[in-house]
Amino acid sequence: MSKVDVLLGLQWGDEGKGKIVDVLAPKYDVVARFQGGPNAGHTLEFDGIKHVLHQIPSGIFRETTRNVIGNGVVLDAVIFKAEIEKLAKFNLNVKKNLFISKKATLILPTHRLLDAAYEKAKGENKIGSTLKGIGPTYQDKIGRQGLRVGDILSADFKDRLKRLTDVHFKILKDHDVTYNWAELEAQFLDAVQFLKEFNLIESEYFLNRELKAGSSILAEGAQGALLDIDFGSYPFVTSSNTVTAGACTGLGIAPRHIGEVYGIFKAYSTRVGGGPFPTELLDTDGEAMRKEGNEFGSTTGRARRCGWIDLPSLKYSIMINGVTQLLMMKADVLSIFPTIKVCTHYELKDGSVTDMIPYEIVHEKISPVYTEIKGWGTDLRQSKENFPAELNDYIKLLETELNVPITLVSTGPDRTQTIHRSLVTV
Ligand code: GDP
Ligand code: IMO
Ligand code: MG
Repeated sequence: MSKVDVLLGLQWGDEGKGKIVDVLAPKYDVVARFQGGPNAGHTLEFDGIKHVLHQIPSGIFRETTRNVIGNGVVLDAVIFKAEIEKLAKFNLNVKKNLFISKKATLILPTHRLLDAAYEKAKGENKIGSTLKGIGPTYQDKIGRQGLRVGDILSADFKDRLKRLTDVHFKILKDHDVTYNWAELEAQFLDAVQFLKEFNLIESEYFLNRELKAGSSILAEGAQGALLDIDFGSYPFVTSSNTVTAGACTGLGIAPRHIGEVYGIFKAYSTRVGGGPFPTELLDTDGEAMRKEGNEFGSTTGRARRCGWIDLPSLKYSIMINGVTQLLMMKADVLSIFPTIKVCTHYELKDGSVTDMIPYEIVHEKISPVYTEIKGWGTDLRQSKENFPAELNDYIKLLETELNVPITLVSTGPDRTQTIHRSLVTV
């Protein structure tokens, strides 16, 4: 029996999961997404081409890797169709290499409308949602009235669709939302027809059969641990369990079958949308970081908030995920700074100092306590194993504080700009 390794973000998303899943995919027989939906944009770069995937797992460009969209995912058929069509020119065998759980929940056009209506109603307290209908779809799943991918195969699918959209129409009326349902429905039904041409499977049986046969499986997380519905800075979170445990429920894998947990983080921090961000830089350093790191959302184009690395939050993410290896991304971006700050603790309102995330983080101002180290000041993008001494000091400091080895360092967006220090894979 083989194991399922899990790769997930330890911060607020956009850590570089897509790049690393693509790098690791040749070592895995199967890559499986376990939660989230098209809120996510996972970027891959190779041969001078940049690809952004939204729902399709990031192993899709590797010929021998099969890809699964698990039951924990919320799937937008319209976006799925567009995504597949965009890949057409690369001659990938998606009909053979892509499998979709019948138990994944469908995002309806009305879920997107509801997302926008709920955000608008929140006013200044809005979450900063990607408005892809993620929250309302998970709401319907938990409320036991959602539609699932497998439902599209049933003869009465249109009746079921009507039952649910009638519920949505009533809510949308209360919010004074106007829309052209005939147009949205036609587009949705066309995409549903398209979806029927794919391998719609019971993915929990598929994956467990693969495990028994000795196949290696990599579970690809979306978002990040600090956006987790239970452990993130609620309510400024996404609507799924983004943590390792989410891979169990989102794929039907028993906890004892989890192997390595790759925790991926940027050498600094970013966040898109609302919510607390203790190390956020609202000054020229923050702007320089955003510019150098090209910190603009891959799906929405929104500017990402930027700040120094935050060890209390990384320690928390490592704890709740059981991280066994750390992968550090975007080290090249910090080359522009003569001095690099590392937040080791938080100072709370009452003057006390802690390295834990306090419950009050959402409502009370928390001041970061920094230690500083000298920057490396050299371009890392062409580097091989020999890092400048200051970068090695930075890595050592993080490893000592976090107590988990950093086994991979990324020095640029391309597949090849990846330094394996002592990465252990299957
Ligand atoms: P994901 O959501 O975790 O897959 O991350 P995104 O793809 O949304 O955002 C990461 C961004 O950083 C993308 O534009 C990547 O191309 C880019 N990227 C990934 N690794 C590196 C790196 O080591 N250095 C630099 N400069 N960019 C990187
Ligand atoms: P990847 O997988 C960064 C953020 C949104 C918002 C909050 C809730 O690319 O790392 P939602 O659309 O889920 O209702 O938004 O979560 N968010 C992300 N931020 N990367 C993501 O995904 C994100 N997915 C959602 O900006 O603050
Ligand atoms: Mg992203």
